[in-house]
Amino acid sequence: MDFKDLLTDRYAAKAFQDRTIPEETIQELLEMIRLAPSGLNIQPWRIKVVADRATKAELLALAPDEPQIGGCSHLLVFCAHTDWEAQTQKLGRTMKEKTVPDKIWGIVMGIAAEMATEPEDELYAWIVGNVYMAATYGLLGAEALGLDACPMTHFPPAEFSRVLGLPDAVKPVLLVAVGYAADEPKPKWRYPLSDILL
Ligand SMILES: Cc1cc2nc3c(=O)[nH]c(=O)nc-3n(C[C@H](O)[C@H](O)[C@H](O)COP(=O)(O)O)c2cc1C
Repeated sequence: MDFKDLLTDRYAAKAFQDRTIPEETIQELLEMIRLAPSGLNIQPWRIKVVADRATKAELLALAPDEPQIGGCSHLLVFCAHTDWEAQTQKLGRTMKEKTVPDKIWGIVMGIAAEMATEPEDELYAWIVGNVYMAATYGLLGAEALGLDACPMTHFPPAEFSRVLGLPDAVKPVLLVAVGYAADEPKPKWRYPLSDILL
């Protein structure tokens, strides 16, 4: 599919058919998400894939305005990984394994150390911005694979963490429900460029 068509054809599906995405297609989608870029290439995201009906029903009960949670084939719970120290160490080790030049290694590790001193909420906001990048790859990847998807932030993160048994350092940020839509796209509207250009 032409990339421009992909951007215009995708829409936030609110209803899904009772049809399961084949496992290999889900793996393809996750591979696409894995390619998302991030600041410092630190990849500060974790994704919980929920396909089990009972768990989706339990999550839907916590966000009853979002029927996509229960109706989709797979619910991707995009999470922020907030343990900066652990991620910085992993990044440092991995850059060595990937033979990143010492000069670049030093610059990246210096920035990561500097960021560790930022107020916690600023660092969290930065991590969340990166998680959105991965989720965007998920939304567009789904469309490219002939799937439909809906991004959602209207859910209670702490309660989702409890149901999913997520570690403390991993915070749900955004959901992407994927499957085969049972609804039709509504007319797409966006503000004109003149409204958004400064
Ligand atoms: C960050 C974000 C959060 C969203 N949260 C929800 C949500 O909680 N529930 C929902 O039904 N749609 C949600 N949406 C879908 C938007 O309403 C939808 O993308 C927007 O109206 C534009 O329509 P389109 O995606 O069909 O082009 C969200 C979209 C984004 C990007």
